[in-house]
Amino acid sequence: MKSSQHENTALNSYFSELYGHARMQSEWFAPEPPCLRINTIKSSVQEITEFMQQKGIEFKPHPLNSRGAIILHDPLPMSHTLAFYTGSFFYQGISSQLPALALNPQPGETVLDMSAAPGSKTTQIADLMQNQGQLFSADSSFKRLQPLMTNLDRAGAMNSVVYFMIGQRWGRLLPDFFDKVLIDAPCSNLGKNPNLFLDSEKWTPARLNGHTNLQELLLISALKTVRVGGTVVYSTCSVSVEENEHLVHQVLQKTGDRVKIESIPLPLHEWLKPGLTSHGGRAFHPDLEKACRIPPFPHPVEGFFMVRLKKLDSFPVRPSDTVKMMQTRSATHPEISDYLERISQRWGIALDKLKDFRYYKTKKRIYMLAKEWQEIPEHKMIKPGIPLVEIKGRTLKLMGAAVQLLSQDINKSIIELDEKKVMQLFRTGNIHLKDQRNGYFALAIDGKIITSMSLFKGYSKIHLPHYFHLVR
Ligand SMILES: C[S@@+](CC[C@H](N)C(=O)[O-])C[C@H]1O[C@@H](n2cnc3c(N)ncnc32)[C@H](O)[C@@H]1O
Repeated sequence: MKSSQHENTALNSYFSELYGHARMQSEWFAPEPPCLRINTIKSSVQEITEFMQQKGIEFKPHPLNSRGAIILHDPLPMSHTLAFYTGSFFYQGISSQLPALALNPQPGETVLDMSAAPGSKTTQIADLMQNQGQLFSADSSFKRLQPLMTNLDRAGAMNSVVYFMIGQRWGRLLPDFFDKVLIDAPCSNLGKNPNLFLDSEKWTPARLNGHTNLQELLLISALKTVRVGGTVVYSTCSVSVEENEHLVHQVLQKTGDRVKIESIPLPLHEWLKPGLTSHGGRAFHPDLEKACRIPPFPHPVEGFFMVRLKKLDSFPVRPSDTVKMMQTRSATHPEISDYLERISQRWGIALDKLKDFRYYKTKKRIYMLAKEWQEIPEHKMIKPGIPLVEIKGRTLKLMGAAVQLLSQDINKSIIELDEKKVMQLFRTGNIHLKDQRNGYFALAIDGKIITSMSLFKGYSKIHLPHYFHLVR
């Protein structure tokens, strides 16, 4: 390690023991290059690959995720393109793309992402499930729910319902319920960029155990809420043994024969190392070698840990109060059908295109969900599926997320703007147009619908999640 006033000798010796080197060198830990994950709900690998080639972006495929691309040089940047705005791809770390692949969720399954915010892995799970089935995306942080919901809307994830809930509760609330559960646990972040810790006095050995109580409670809750035969993936962006192998070993001692470790369904690769079966004189469950460690060196990827567990038998659970279920509606339900008729007339969407979804209506909004969501557990539910329309008196506002998702099916009430105007609109979120029509429209550029736009007295507005300097 470079000599620095802030050299953290305790962490240096922890890493030295972990990796078998006498002394760590800070140059060993290079930052991870940016990485994209293509969202096939909105786009395709071919479309985004061709786009990057046309724009002179240098990249190489993610070696373990066929929908991932590692960016080597980006003259645009991609983060300011319409493809990013419309959710065709997400930025997601190289190793952060692996836990969802380890979970291997399938279309039609019932899946819980127990600590989902801000949503990298949950939007990936929604995509892997082909926007079908039931995905519960939960988190305990109210502040992080907003970016989570924005990301799910941008992804077009109609199969996801968002919950504001601490993970410890799921086990008693819905025992033996889910096919699969991801617990991407809150952790010490010791895999992210070790140099941040190596050069800082903030890291102390006590930090290794700072999260373990909560991590254990979350993992046990996950094992209770998954069904017999179902799968739990536990992951952290920490390389510490205490938060990973040691923790899983302790949980396995408590759960006995009810749980076993399974191999992770990923091909062999030099980044992936087996989990540890002993450390610092402690022996762990031998199957922990089926877990997976990603060290943050010599390859420039964030350090990660993941383990895949299978539930073999139920746990004794004292269930909490019965969960109230809210019924969703079909397209032909009287509460919904008139609205869909009006949407169809106003935006030229064939009713047939809307018939297979489920709908949930509040006083001000109608939401659209994947067909498997026949009912929704009400407890702490925040957002069901994708907002379809806002009900503004007699007027309906088709929401941006729905416009993007249904863009191929919208045939009326489209306003096409030229590049200069769209650039202007993205700079400020609003512009004056000579057009004197009033109402809500789909905004198109080069014949492609990108979002919804309001137009009142020649003043037009779009919703931008943040300042957006568009590049083309
Ligand atoms: C590593 S981050 C999750 C990142 C997320 N999976 C993603 O890919 O974007 C851990 C998350 O755990 C949440 N968290 C902390 N305590 C929790 C608890 N008791 N129950 C559920 N979530 C919790 C935090 O708010 C944080 O969003």
